[in-house]
Amino acid sequence: MAQLWGGRFTKETDQLVYNFNASISFDKRFYEQDIKGSIAHVMMLCKQGILFEEEKKEIIAGLESILRDVESGRLEITDKYEDIHSFVEANLIERIGDVGKMLHTGRSRNDQVALDMKMYIRSEIISLQGLVVDLLRELLEIMKQNVDTIMPGFTHMQKAQPTTLAHHMGAYFEMFKRDHSRLKDIYKRMNTCPLGAGALAGTTYPLDRNYTAELLGFDGPTLNSMDTVSDRDYLIELMSALSTIMMHLSRFSEEVIIWNSNEYQFVEIDDSYSTGSSIMPQKKNPDIAELVRGKTGRVYGALMSILTTMKGIPLAYNKDMQEDKELIFDAIDTAKGCLALFTGMISTMKFNKERMNESSRHGFTNATDAADYLVNHGVPFRDAHGIVGQLVLYCIDKGIALDDMSLEEYKAISPVFGEDIYDAISMETCVNKRKTIGAPGPDAMRKVIEIYTKYLEEC
Ligand code: ARG
Repeated sequence: MAQLWGGRFTKETDQLVYNFNASISFDKRFYEQDIKGSIAHVMMLCKQGILFEEEKKEIIAGLESILRDVESGRLEITDKYEDIHSFVEANLIERIGDVGKMLHTGRSRNDQVALDMKMYIRSEIISLQGLVVDLLRELLEIMKQNVDTIMPGFTHMQKAQPTTLAHHMGAYFEMFKRDHSRLKDIYKRMNTCPLGAGALAGTTYPLDRNYTAELLGFDGPTLNSMDTVSDRDYLIELMSALSTIMMHLSRFSEEVIIWNSNEYQFVEIDDSYSTGSSIMPQKKNPDIAELVRGKTGRVYGALMSILTTMKGIPLAYNKDMQEDKELIFDAIDTAKGCLALFTGMISTMKFNKERMNESSRHGFTNATDAADYLVNHGVPFRDAHGIVGQLVLYCIDKGIALDDMSLEEYKAISPVFGEDIYDAISMETCVNKRKTIGAPGPDAMRKVIEIYTKYLEEC
């Protein structure tokens, strides 16, 4: 047991208590943040005349050597220490002697852990943003290539109206674009430096909090020391953003699984992203999409967990907050893995364009357009709706599509129909006529693609 306290105790900590309390097994991830934060703290202490230049140099050299040794594998972070903060401080004292004992001047583990967590989360947000951008780029590529690829659009899982693959992918582009901007917002809001908040009430030393904030790339110091050591809002926000990302990935996975099924065959997942069955030789399963869908629950769990942990905590720091780490690390790792794999899966997936086109021709996806045709010939919409309903019933009975009816058959139901009905209800016309921004018409789609291209250029 190596801990940073003990002076006021007359008994050893019970081993089970020690184990229950220790966080090194998971906060060892913070070694780099802890060391870099400590270096900034020491630079500030020296600038403020709290440490001598020589002491500063020795401490920084010691901290840098610990970082190097951990990174090269020469120094192992073991369970001998209570947490990463104790590990770094104890190692420093071992290396440079008594000077190392000055490191913790004007600092508490409460502001220290808040700093480590914020620095860790900042870099994770940046890598998450990168992964979302990779996915957006892939989606944009698919969109560019499929402005004219007609497919059925669905509501209630029933064929509804024709759309294009570009339009369908564009819906996901919008979702992940919102995710991207949510991550950006979180970063902006959380980027204030906890260092100097002390245990809860600041310190009596003349710390320059602006200086440490600047050294560590923060926009400035936090403005209330009690809030600083007990704020985990940014984690809740991140878990919420990750839950939304996972929800989007899960919906997309669901569609990929359906589209990849024998019945649909709209897509074929590449062999490199599929798995087989131990018993059924014919099987090629969409396990990656299923796992992404399944892992969504883990991330939602982390959001519920942190919300519940925080709900009853009085100000300021309480040990409950140590529970912020394991599930959140797991949720971040999970979301990153899912984003990367999902992007890989769709970038290698084959879209069966003919099959999509063919499917759009069945299921009366052009029925709305047939009604619009009648409206354009002076029939009130409600009546037109009824007439096309009759056409559909007639076709179902004969097992044909609207396009297969003869003009006589049309006229028998409504004399308003003329030869131009066939062009009016062709899949191409149905899509091309939807020209307003946000609709699948190729011109509208190309304008949106231009906007997305600019968005990604600025990412
Ligand atoms: N391991 C602690 C955590 O993760 C660090 C802060 C400990 N502070 C304290 N006063 N015990 O929250």
